[in-house]
Amino acid sequence: MTKNKVWQGRFTGKSAQEVDVFNSSISFDYVLFEEDIAGSIAHAKMLAKQAIISEEDTASIVDGLQEILMDLKNGTLAFDPDAEDIHMFVESVLTERIGEPAKRLHTGRSRNDQVALDLRLYVKKQLTEISQQLLDFEEVLISQAEQHLETIMPGYTHLQIAQPVTFAHHVMAYAQMIKRDIKRIEEVMEHTDSMPLGNGALAGTTYPLDRQFVAEELGFGSVTENSLDGVSDRDFVIDAAYALSMIMMHLSRLSEEVILWCSQAFQFVELDDAFATGSSIMPQKKNPDVAELVRGKTGRAYGNLQTLLTVMKGTPLAYNKDMQEDKEALFDSLSTVKLALSAMIPMVDTMTANKERMREAASKGFINATDCADYLTKKGVPFREAYGVIGQLVQTCIEKDLTLEEVSIEMYQSLHDLFDEDIYEAIKLENCVTKRSIQGGPAPEAVQEQIVNLKNQLGLS
Ligand code: ARG
Repeated sequence: MTKNKVWQGRFTGKSAQEVDVFNSSISFDYVLFEEDIAGSIAHAKMLAKQAIISEEDTASIVDGLQEILMDLKNGTLAFDPDAEDIHMFVESVLTERIGEPAKRLHTGRSRNDQVALDLRLYVKKQLTEISQQLLDFEEVLISQAEQHLETIMPGYTHLQIAQPVTFAHHVMAYAQMIKRDIKRIEEVMEHTDSMPLGNGALAGTTYPLDRQFVAEELGFGSVTENSLDGVSDRDFVIDAAYALSMIMMHLSRLSEEVILWCSQAFQFVELDDAFATGSSIMPQKKNPDVAELVRGKTGRAYGNLQTLLTVMKGTPLAYNKDMQEDKEALFDSLSTVKLALSAMIPMVDTMTANKERMREAASKGFINATDCADYLTKKGVPFREAYGVIGQLVQTCIEKDLTLEEVSIEMYQSLHDLFDEDIYEAIKLENCVTKRSIQGGPAPEAVQEQIVNLKNQLGLS
């Protein structure tokens, strides 16, 4: 740990070992090695192009960096736990390996714009992967929906039986949330797509760097416009943490439903054995641990978002070491979402809906009471009046333990003379659903249209 630092020159004494340990970020920022090397290669090429360093030096730097990349990937080079961070590590290995030219690499650059670059590249790569996972999830949700366009289930408000819907309609509600998550990620990508090299430590540089060239080499759409902001902007990290929190919130809501649906009280779905776990003591148990863990891990994502907002709130311009604290929170949110999706997608794909149980549950709780009132309204009775009549009817049915289907025509007619035999058709659950064919409604044709629209919006076939 007491190796000489590149910045040792200004000091007469060595840093305390506790400080080295406290200061070091290599234990977590090593994951940025590919981005760090890609950024350095682009920077070196630009330095030669601008005749700031020689073509020979750049060639040797690029070769050296490519070898380091390969060696790190195949494990022949290990990260040095004593290094200050990934940037110093790569630079010191390069210097060991190629000598003099390595010492020219950092010309016109600071670790402040370097780390900002690495992080932006990393966020772009990770979010691209997550976006693909979300698309895979959409396909699974759509496939479940397509199998259950006519599977009637109770729709709830306040977790009380409300009106009949279908399992397809319910599942597609989640597909809509995930569609927004995909869009949100696209927006975060836009905010991330600016290239900060050339901002230097804080005040740019006197070298004639070609920032546009570096941006193009690395696939950025633009360059950052203010050097003070460019080195200290972590908005894209917080945007990402927010988008990731939203994803977890959506996964957690669905998890909560899966947990309920698997319970003995509901029995709406059965999880595949591969996505459930047993108990160490109770032989009968089949637990929805995956869904529970997704729900539980949502707390981490929210915590990370809070951490990032708080880390940034008191930092004056420009770079402050506080910003090193952005990484663990961001990395944890990224890996939490990837892990959660990788377990959740096949779990939802392989779960089976129990149509009979859903239909049975939907036939309770006077789920068709609104349709009963609508029946009278469509015959001219003002809705509020019809609502009052059916309210009384429900009250009587509760006392007599009857469903609306079991009420005799005489009883209906004693409540209102506009009731006729066709009331029984009007309150049949299948009809209650198919008549809700309004755009966005649960009728099979409306859900089918929703599926077609979503596929078009997402470019799925
Ligand atoms: N490890 C540092 C970070 O993650 C890199 C930048 C260090 N810059 C500095 N001026 N000390 O923020």
